[in-house]
This record gives sequence, structure tokens and C-alpha cells, in this order.
Amino acid sequence: MRRKMADSRILITGASQGIGRALAEEAAHRGAKVLAAARSSAMLKELQEQARSAGGTLEIVQADVTSRDDRLRMVQAAQDHFGGLDILVNNAGIGATGHFAEAGPDRLRTIFEVNFFGLTETTRVFLPLLKQGNRPAIVNISSVAGKRGIPARSEYSASKFAVEGFSEALRPELAKDGIDLIVVCPGLTQTNFSKNMIEQKAVLQFDHLRGMTSEQVAVATIKAIERGSRQVVLSFQGKLLALVSRFLPRVADRVAARKVRNLFKDEIAAREARRAEQKSGEPKATSEERGAKSEDRKAPTPG
Ligand SMILES: NC(=O)c1ccc[n+]([C@@H]2O[C@H](COP(=O)([O-])OP(=O)(O)OC[C@H]3O[C@@H](n4cnc5c(N)ncnc54)[C@H](OP(=O)(O)O)[C@@H]3O)[C@@H](O)[C@H]2O)c1
Repeated sequence: MRRKMADSRILITGASQGIGRALAEEAAHRGAKVLAAARSSAMLKELQEQARSAGGTLEIVQADVTSRDDRLRMVQAAQDHFGGLDILVNNAGIGATGHFAEAGPDRLRTIFEVNFFGLTETTRVFLPLLKQGNRPAIVNISSVAGKRGIPARSEYSASKFAVEGFSEALRPELAKDGIDLIVVCPGLTQTNFSKNMIEQKAVLQFDHLRGMTSEQVAVATIKAIERGSRQVVLSFQGKLLALVSRFLPRVADRVAARKVRNLFKDEIAAREARRAEQKSGEPKATSEERGAKSEDRKAPTPG
């Protein structure tokens, strides 16, 4: 369903910086009533001053999406400031890099707590308000990593695949309530996402500065909201990766495995050298033993 930003009351989680902040600024600029949520109140206040001095309507609420009380506070804030909500943007997200085998269970749980449970439970508490909203929509910010699992980002990829599955199942459920569900999958984006990661152990770091700007992602997201798109995958590389993963999954597997083997070629070479050494160090069979073995092979099988 089509909608106009100018008529909408919109809540954006993770709006203190990066994509969420750009989205809050752009939505306010287009005349939406914006409620910006995040944990950092100093950054939210700065955003509010900036948006208001540009003539926009932007309210703030300090909230951690992993806290039930904070999620309820966001609902209360939407009611108090705007008398309801039309668009919920689940944008708050965190990441980590490093191989799964070298991480503890906390990394996986922390990422899922924000990227998945934070998103699903924020959605849950807002459903009653959204059902009464004007041309309502839920926007889940996923990632290209929700289309193709990325090595050394297994927990993050899994959390975004979970968001994709949840969104796919929820979309038809919400159709009866007239609520759109839009999934946005950005590719690499120029934000502090890497800097804000809970852990960075990957050998290969991605250069986020090569990606789209957060303003470009914000504009593309607003376009998707206004058109009522089902899903958008952003950036040329992102689209290509999603296509290859869907239609040529074995090629994508092989390319990823080759890349990992290349990065760890010294470790692999050292392991192979160790194995060869162990083999050559094994006691050699005597000539009688070898002879006995070959006699065994020649002996007719019984029956
Ligand atoms: N940057 C990329 O390359 C990229 C690519 C694809 C998808 N994405 C996705 O885009 C979204 C935004 O990422 P970004 O690049 O803008 O990252 P960012 O610059 O690190 O911003 C993340 C935002 O999430 C908020 N946040 C983190 N934990 C939170 C929590 N527990 N409760 C509430 N807010 C929380 C942060 O605010 P506070 O710290 O103040 O709470 C911040 O405003 C994420 O879902 C990410 O997975 C990013």
C-alpha cells in the first residue's frame, strides 16, 4: 500500500547514529512526526535540536530494545507525543566478527538479544497501536548478510536470516490487519557499525567506507515505505551477492571457502607439514610384515 511520509507518525529504533539517525533526519525533513529511540540520550538530544532547528517534528525516547520496560516506554512515548503510530522501523542492530569456533556462547546470545529478540518483541508491543494506525507498516532493517551468510560473521548472519524468516511469516499474518511488512537489506554502509561491534576478530575486515552513505540508505528506505515494497536489497554488490546465493549457491559456497582457505594458507600449510612429519615418523613395516600382508591379499576368500 502506498503512503506519504508527510502524513506519518514514525518510530525509529537505533536512531542515535548511522542509518537510523539518517532515516530520522530524512523523515523529519519530509514532514513526518518522528519518534527517535536509542540508548544514548546525549546523541538523541543533539539529533532533536538539529531536526527542530530545520523545522522538523522529532521527539526522543531513551530505550534499549532488549529491555521490556524500555519497549513499553517507547509505546507510551508514541501515545503521549503523537496519539499512536503508523510506521515502526526496527533498525537497532549490533555485530561482531571472528570465527564461530573461537567465540563463546555470549557473543551469539548478545547479538540475537538485540538484532532478533529486540526486533520481534518491539514489534509485539507495537501491534495494538499499529492496528489503529493510518496506512501502517513495519520496516525491518535486515542486511545482505540475511541473504547470504558471511564467513567470520556467523552470529550476525544468523540473526539477520532469523529476521528474514520472521518477517516472511509475519507479513501474511498482518495482511488481515492491513499492516505492511517491509524488509530492507542494506549492503556495506558508511557508519560506525564496525567500530560499535561487540568484538572484532576477523582476519579480513570490510571497508565500510566503500559502501553506500547512510543518507542513501535512508532515502531508499523511505522510497520503499512510500511505495509499500515487500523487500529491497541495496547496492550493486548486495544485489549480486543475493542473486548468486539464490541461484548459484554452490558457486557462492566455493568462492567463500576458497577465500577462507587463502586467508589461512599458512595455518593449513603448517598443519599439512605436521601431518607429513607424523607419518614419516611412524615405525616402518618390516619386509616380513609386508610379505605376509601381500600373501593375505592373494589368499582366496572363504566361501
Ligand atoms: N553499516 C552497515 O554496513 C550495515 C549493513 C547492513 C545492515 N546494517 C544494519 O543497519 C542497522 C543500523 O546499523 P548502522 O550501520 O547504522 O550501525 P550503527 O551506526 O552502529 O548504529 C546502530 C544503532 O543501533 C543502536 N543500538 C544498538 N544497540 C541497541 C539497543 N540494545 N537498544 C537500542 N538501540 C540500540 C545504537 O544506538 P545506542 O548505542 O545509542 O543505543 C545506534 O543508534 C543495523 O540493524 C545493522 O545490522 C548495517
